[in-house]
Amino acid sequence: MTDEPLLRVSALSKFYGSRVGCENVTFDLWPGEVLAVVGESGSGKTTLLNCLSTRLLPSSGTASYRMRDGQFRELYRMGEAERRFLMRTDWGFVHQNPADGLRMTVSAGANVGERLMAVGDRHYGKIRATAVDWLSRVEIDEDRIDDEPRAFSGGMRQRLQIARNLVTGPRLVFMDEPTGGLDVSVQARLLDLLRGLVTDLGLAAIVVTHDLAVARLLSQRMMVMKDGRVVESGLTDRVLDDPRAPYTQLLVSSILQV
Ligand SMILES: Nc1ncnc2c1ncn2[C@@H]1O[C@H](COP(=O)(O)OP(=O)(O)OP(=O)(O)O)[C@@H](O)[C@H]1O
Ligand SMILES: [Mg+2]
Repeated sequence: MTDEPLLRVSALSKFYGSRVGCENVTFDLWPGEVLAVVGESGSGKTTLLNCLSTRLLPSSGTASYRMRDGQFRELYRMGEAERRFLMRTDWGFVHQNPADGLRMTVSAGANVGERLMAVGDRHYGKIRATAVDWLSRVEIDEDRIDDEPRAFSGGMRQRLQIARNLVTGPRLVFMDEPTGGLDVSVQARLLDLLRGLVTDLGLAAIVVTHDLAVARLLSQRMMVMKDGRVVESGLTDRVLDDPRAPYTQLLVSSILQV
């Protein structure tokens, strides 16, 4: 264990004109830690995630990422090429809709292999073997390797998107409602799978969800957002079992009533 965070976020805000996306968000993320970001629709979860993953530039505030060489780099001062390199190698991004994170008209194997080639792998046999291995890790049969994801079910597509993201051995994965569009039974299985992978790989992750059960299952720590601001944060079990902010109490009790 290192005694330095992987990501340091300070006073991050994003405004869309006069509308608040997220405001004054500050936290550290530690290596191997899963942080859940919860809150109702419009509370700023996606805005925050997109700022952190540099898909969106914040209006103010800073975020520093500890690179593999141990040096912290200020994300919003990096050049475009360097940010893209981070996204291809050290980071993953799992979209709610798998079609946004996959290439739907190339094979499942190529979807996984492509990420390896992007980090410099050139040996076809090795790439294919790694793709097969990753498909099996996400419970996709080897005989589907040449099929295009548009021929897959929603759950399979999401598992493929996860394989595509994890194959390069990222240290940090951003997920926006990773189980959002799926049937309840498929959700449960995917969550199990995700939890196993995150634990095995020692991944750090920031998971946006409006589902407190997802937060409970995947995360060690959580932040509750309302109107763009963090209203409560802490260890997941503590926040869910003993919520302190009135808004969190409401959120927890309304979920229990469902
Ligand atoms: N491109 C945009 N232009 C203007 N306002 C935006 C834009 N994107 C988001 N917003 C506003 O910013 C606020 C936060 O939205 P955001 O999408 O981050 O919320 P969210 O928590 O992800 O919601 P959901 O659970 O519905 O996905 C909302 O008031 C939203 O209307
Ligand atoms: Mg959202």
